[in-house]
This record gives sequence, structure tokens and C-alpha cells, in this order.
Amino acid sequence: MKKQILSGIQPSGILTLGNYLGALRNFVKIQEDDNYECKFFIADLHSITVPQEPEQLRKNIKSILIQYLACGLDPEKNTIFMQSHVHEHAELGWILNNCTYMGELSRMTQYKDKSKKQDNIRVGLFDYPVLMAADILLYDADYVPVGEDQRQHLEIARDIAKRFNSIYKDDVFKLPKPLITENTARIMSLQEPTKKMSKSDDNKDASIFLLDSRDEIMRKVKRAVTDSENCVKYSDDKPGIKNLMNIYSAVTDKSYTEIEEEFKDSGYGQFKTAVATAVADTLEPIQEKYNKLNSPEYEDYLKSICEKGAKHAHEIAKNKLKEVYDTVGFIA
Ligand code: TYM
Repeated sequence: MKKQILSGIQPSGILTLGNYLGALRNFVKIQEDDNYECKFFIADLHSITVPQEPEQLRKNIKSILIQYLACGLDPEKNTIFMQSHVHEHAELGWILNNCTYMGELSRMTQYKDKSKKQDNIRVGLFDYPVLMAADILLYDADYVPVGEDQRQHLEIARDIAKRFNSIYKDDVFKLPKPLITENTARIMSLQEPTKKMSKSDDNKDASIFLLDSRDEIMRKVKRAVTDSENCVKYSDDKPGIKNLMNIYSAVTDKSYTEIEEEFKDSGYGQFKTAVATAVADTLEPIQEKYNKLNSPEYEDYLKSICEKGAKHAHEIAKNKLKEVYDTVGFIA
């Protein structure tokens, strides 16, 4: 039996280098392993937990699909679909709401951070982790590849699954595990390297986006906040340099020792140029593929991927939801 992999990304614009290195690049690696069966979706239902403009959202959803493909996700090897095309996600979410406590949701870091930025906090934002649990539990996922910021959501998904199983019946839900790649689990802001790089950062210099030009990447990396030591060394006391070393290591496959050796006689200027060049070289083929797919002649192709993906996902989700409805006592 193949192990089941599932993950998703919210369609909130162009992905950052953090999303790519922390999540998407790992999806692409896993799809090559025959031991796994993978499903990757676009978390459109999640995205409306913060205000969205409908036309822009439509564009963002399509753009994420193209970014998935441009980064190398292969629709022949994976199931790729949109969350809103499989109605069982929302339905299972409702059932799981009844196995989740207000107290545990109010302790979620992401909720605390995001709710600070809003006056009228939406119930959906509070309830977000329950929908995420439904996404995962619906497909009996064994592993969920994510960045470090999603670890807490994975923990609550396990707690909800355990609680449901203990209230109703053992083994209805499999307990999912996060799959987190250590060095790229938390790519930091270029401007405040103790904070994670985020799509929604108001300071656009803080994040590198997948579609940034070579010049933009060079400019952002050159401006990245470091320290005054001028010594390329991997240390927790040097969060800016540590972050740039993590990024450089991730895109060149060089170890920290190799990087320290490479730049032992040079200052931060030369190091930053090397980091920016390596990042731009990594993103260039992705951007070329993105531009190619983002044209009217590929519309039908994109649509066919989503249709095929939703059909396959729905077959599985339908059976799981039936099992859950039966377990809680609904009449078929
Ligand atoms: P989202 O859309 O915020 O982020 C997508 C993925 O990118 C990772 N990530 C990072 N990794 C490293 N460094 C960073 N700076 C960085 N920023 C983001 C995230 O950890 C994530 O893996 N709740 C999810 C979407 C979701 C989901 C799911 C994921 C909904 N349902 C079910 C897995 C399974 C989210 O908002 O990710």
C-alpha cells in the first residue's frame, strides 16, 4: 500500500520563496517517489477567511495552479484539484466542528496573529484549522508536507481525529504526520529575519516572489538586513546571514561549511550577489514555464487538469464522508 500524501496552498497571490522552498519544492520531490500517492490542492475555501476581492481571487486561484505546474508538479503523477470543487471538505468540516473545542482554536498562533489585523474577526478565521483538519482526514493522509508555521495546525488535526475516533469508533481517521524539511521549514523575512517570510507582508522588500525579475531579486537581497560583522558564518546570533545561508544552501545544495569556506575571504556584498544570482537562476526556468502556461492556448489544458483532479478526489472524499455520516448516526 502506498503512503498517502496531501497538502495545499492558499491562493493569496504570487508565492514567496518561503512557500516554494518550504512546501512546493518538496511536493515536487515527493511526486517522484513511487512509495507515495500524492494529492495537492488549492485551498480556495480557506482564502476567504480574510477579505478577498472576487475578480482578484479568481485570478489568484488560476495563478496558483499555473505556479504549481511551473514549479514542476506533474498532473500525470499527482491529483491536483481545487478545494471548492470537492464539496465534502466543507461538509466534513461541519462534522469536525462538533469534535473541536473553542479553547484549543483560540490558542492557534496563526489565528492570534491574523485576528490582530482585523476589526470584525470572521468565524471562518477562527474555524480555519477545523477545515484544514477536514482537508487532511478526508483522504486518510499519512504525511502532510508543510513549512514549520503549519505544525500547530497538524497537531490540532491529529487531536480532532483522535477525539472523533475515541467518541465514535476506532480507526475511522488515520492520524496524519507533518513532513517538514528542516533547513527550509522557515524562510525568514529579508527585512526582519526573526519573522517568517510571508505573502501578506506589507513591506514588499521583505519577500522574494516567484515571479520577481532578476533585478528585483538582486535589489531585495542586497538590501537584506544582516549584521556588522562582515563574516559569513552560520550562527543563531546572526539571523540575517543564517537566513541567506539557508536560502543559498537550498538553491545550490551546498553545505553550510562549504558556504563558509567559499566566502571566507569575502564580505557580505559578494555573498549577497552570489545568493541573489543563485535564486534568480533557480527561478528563471519556473518563470519561463509560468509565462508559457499563462496564455489563452493553455486554458483548456488547465481546466482539464482541475476536472480530472476533482473527479478523482471526489471519488475518495465521497466514500470517506459516507463512512463518517454512517458512524455519527445519520440515515443513508
Ligand atoms: P500557506 O498558503 O500559508 O502556505 C503554503 C505552504 O508554504 C509554507 N510556508 C513556508 N515555508 C517556509 N518558510 C516560509 N516563510 C513559509 N511561508 C509559508 C507553509 O507552511 C505551507 O506549507 N493552512 C495552509 C493551507 C492548507 C493546508 C491544508 C496545508 C489548507 N489546508 C491541508 C496542508 C494540508 C496555509 O495557509 O498555507
